[in-house]
Amino acid sequence: MAAAVLLLLLPILAAAPAAASAASGEKSTHIKLYWHDVVSGPSPTAVPVARAAVTNTSKTAFGMVIVIDDPLTEGPDLKSSKLVGRAQGTYIGAGKDELSLMMNMNFVFQGGKYNGSTVAIMGRNAAFSAVREMAVVGGTGVFRWARGYAQARTHALDIKTGDATVEYNLYIKH
Ligand SMILES: *[C@@H]1O[C@H](CO)[C@@H](O)[C@H](O)[C@H]1NC(C)=O
Ligand SMILES: *[C@@H]1O[C@H](CO)[C@@H](O)[C@H](O)[C@H]1NC(C)=O
Repeated sequence: MAAAVLLLLLPILAAAPAAASAASGEKSTHIKLYWHDVVSGPSPTAVPVARAAVTNTSKTAFGMVIVIDDPLTEGPDLKSSKLVGRAQGTYIGAGKDELSLMMNMNFVFQGGKYNGSTVAIMGRNAAFSAVREMAVVGGTGVFRWARGYAQARTHALDIKTGDATVEYNLYIKH
C-alpha cells in the first residue's frame, strides 16, 4: 500500500524542482512612505460614515466606520513631499475597551515604476502603540501574488484636529 502511494507521488516529486525555480524569480521589495489622514478642514481625506447607536463608545471609537482616500507621499510633509499614491479603503473602530482599528485599504500607486499597481493591506492597528504591524494580503500589477507585512509608526498627530501623518514601511514578496 505504502509503495503504491509512493508511486503515485513520484510524478509530483519530480515536478517539484520546476516549481521551486519558478518561485526563485520572486522579488523582495521594501517601500517607505507617509500616509496622511486628514480629518479636518474643508477637504478631509478621511470621513466617518457610520457610528454605533450606543453613545458610550467615543473613547475607543468602537463601532465607527471611516472611509479614506488618504494621500501617500515620499517624505513626511504633505505640502512639499512628492505624492506617490493614495490609500483607499476603510478603517473601523474594532476595540471596545482600547483604541484598536481594523484597517482595510489598497495602496494605489500613481507614478514611477509602480504606477497603476496596488497593494492590499489588512490588519489590526492599535494606533497608540509605537509600531503596528499589518498584513500585506495581496496586490495587482507589479505586486501580483504579493504577500508580506506593513509596519506603521505615527510621525505626527495633531491632537486638536485629529490629523495624522504615519510612516509606513512595506516589506513585500511578489
Ligand atoms: C460607559 O462605559 C463604561 C465602561 O465600560 C461603564 O463603566 C459605564 O457605566 C458606561 N456608562 C453608561 C452611561 O452606560
Ligand atoms: C500613470 O499611469 C497613468 C495611466 O496609464 C497615466 O495616465 C499617468 O500619466 C501615469 N503617471 C505617471 C506619473 O507616470
